[in-house]
Formats: sequence, C-alpha cells, structure tokens
Amino acid sequence: MFTIERHREIDSTNNRAKLLAAEGKRNICVVADRQTGGRGRMGRQFFSPEGSGLYFSLLISPTVKGEDSALLTTFAAVCVAETLAELTGVSAAIKWVNDVYMNGKKICGILTEGALNYENGTFDYAVIGVGINVGRTAFSTELSAIASDVETETGVKLNKDLLLERLLERFAHMESALAQGDFMEAYRKRCFVLGKDVTVTRGSEIFAAKALDVNAKGELLVEAAGERMTLSSGEVSVRV
Ligand code: BTN
Repeated sequence: MFTIERHREIDSTNNRAKLLAAEGKRNICVVADRQTGGRGRMGRQFFSPEGSGLYFSLLISPTVKGEDSALLTTFAAVCVAETLAELTGVSAAIKWVNDVYMNGKKICGILTEGALNYENGTFDYAVIGVGINVGRTAFSTELSAIASDVETETGVKLNKDLLLERLLERFAHMESALAQGDFMEAYRKRCFVLGKDVTVTRGSEIFAAKALDVNAKGELLVEAAGERMTLSSGEVSVRV
C-alpha cells in the first residue's frame, strides 16, 4: 500500500512528502533516522535526534472532506496508541487532538498538513507526520518535564522497523475506518482530557474550560463560562 522512501537525515519528512505531492506522487511513507528541522504544531520544533526516534510522514489522498481533517489526526493517534500498547503491554493515552502519552509523558506527536481542492472541498493530498520517541532519548531539562520515550516508560526496547511495519498495517485500513467512523469510540476511551478541567489555547485566545466529549468529526466539545462550544483546532492542557 505504501512505498517507503528512507533517509538517514532530512530537514523534515513532512517537507519531503509535500515535495513529492507536488510531483504528483501519493501513497508514500517518507521515513528518516534524524530530522534537522522537525516541525510540530503551532510552529514549534520537534526534537528529532538520530537513533532513538521513529520519524515518518504518510503522503495520502484521503476521501474525507477538508472540514473533517481532524479525522486524519485522530485516526493516526489511535493507530499509534493501539500499536504501542500492543507491542509493549503498557497502556497509551491520547491528549486531544494529536499527542500520545505513556505514564503521563508525551511520547509521540502528530502533525497533519495538506492541500485542499476548493472546487469540491476535498483534499488534493494530505501528509500525516508522526514522531515517536522510541528508544532512550536525551531530552533537555525543559523537555524532559513533559516528554519521554517508550523505552523509559515501558522498559521495552522496540525495533523501529517492526513498529513502522505494524503502524503501516493499521494505516492501510484508514479509508474503511474513516468511512465507518467506529475508531472514534477507541479514541474517546484513550482520550484522557475528557471530563477534566482544561486550559484551551486557540490562536491568541487562552481560556479555562471543561472537556466534555469528542464528536464524530474528532472535534472537542467543551464548556467554557457556561457555554458549550466545539473546537476543531487548538490545544488543551489539563489543569491540575
Ligand atoms: C507535535 O507534537 O506538535 C507534532 C510533532 C510531529 C512530528 C513529526 S516527526 C515526522 C514529521 N516531520 C515533521 O517535521 N514533523 C512530523
């Protein structure tokens, strides 16, 4: 289903996938041992040292509407969480919308990008970029407060090739899973912000809310200042 393109070092696998998209390519998985310009959401960098991480981007041509783009990220988060839980025997949780956690620490981030066809509202292409801290990782003091890696959290040394193979097997079922929508129940079960008091960051707005549910489009339903609202983008952190 996916042709794999491997790189020892690259700026960002998402950037490379977008270049391939411009050449008309699809169904490619770009994977790198190291990224010199790994990108995260909200313009952040994604720490991507050699050896310990699995960094890859899937270039696809999804049939979902552009307005349902959160489905791509939520599906990817379920794939990563289920695969890691299966291979390590340790549960993996999801922080809406795109982060996978183990033992309260972020071990994976997902950055979904794409180009829309404005005539019919569908994707010309989408790139799902996944970064998993697999082996023991030398984080800065600042990062180690929030991030960790699978080996540290589970004691299991995963083979990155096997992990990628298992992930790609799950991603191969994306179209049917998105059409049926049944993966969203798995997402809700793993989404640890539900029922919690959270701080929402959306653009320049920051506000307190309670996270209530994730709807069938992968959007987060929250209550803030007595009003219910649906978030299709943004970021939440649990208030302690
Ligand atoms: C986030 O945590 O904000 C998302 C991080 C996404 C990182 C992955 S690593 C592979 C792909 N290439 C990138 O430059 N970013 C994504």
